[in-house]
Amino acid sequence: NTVQPATGLRITITAGPTREPLDPVRYLSNHSSGKMGYALAAAAAELGAEVHLISGPVQLAVPAGVQCLPVTTAEEMLQACEARRNQTDLFIACAAVADYRAEQVAEHKIKKQSGQDAMTLTLVKNPDILAQMATGSPRPFCVGFAAETQNVEGYAQDKLLRKNLDAIVANDVSDPGIGFGSDDNRVTLLLRKGEHTEIRPLPQNSKQQLARQLLLELLTFYKEQQQP
Ligand code: C5P
Repeated sequence: NTVQPATGLRITITAGPTREPLDPVRYLSNHSSGKMGYALAAAAAELGAEVHLISGPVQLAVPAGVQCLPVTTAEEMLQACEARRNQTDLFIACAAVADYRAEQVAEHKIKKQSGQDAMTLTLVKNPDILAQMATGSPRPFCVGFAAETQNVEGYAQDKLLRKNLDAIVANDVSDPGIGFGSDDNRVTLLLRKGEHTEIRPLPQNSKQQLARQLLLELLTFYKEQQQP
């Protein structure tokens, strides 16, 4: 009966896309598969953590030992995360949250306008769930993801500081063999150590293997930070 690396830790993970309705039949969303977030949840449960997965709409089975709360919109995801704040030691934001939502959701299906070739949708910014979790109190240890197509480490470093995170996982989504929808991923982990950021590239791996490796690194860093 060995003690596992994450025994006693409560980990909340967001995963998948959010879906922002325009009217009763249409929405804005993105291609996030949720695979990375679900792999992290599975790995965290295997490592002994109490895991809560807050998931947008995806086609994946909930991993063994994981509690899943399905949500649709960014605002619902934020409410679900806030509801878990007091019971979260580690917060990992893996979801691809829609940056904007429709200012007004039409009550009835929006009709084609005859004689009008263009239409305008007014969008408003969604809340930044991760940034809000990292500024409120009590503040969990906060980990973000940064999917970039250029200057990957530079932009990830900016996000780490701007969103007040402890760590960020950066990946290059311009590489078709890795990232969105793919089973493989290659990431760089950035750990915030006071004024200094430690940059740790991890080898390319299946999302399963990578999730386990990432969590082990994050758990070590988390425990170091808890030392007085
Ligand atoms: O700023 P950007 O969207 O690239 O930041 C990505 C990170 O922030 C991811 O960890 C993502 O889950 C999180 N995020 C969030 N809420 C948003 C936008 C991004 O939690 N509205």
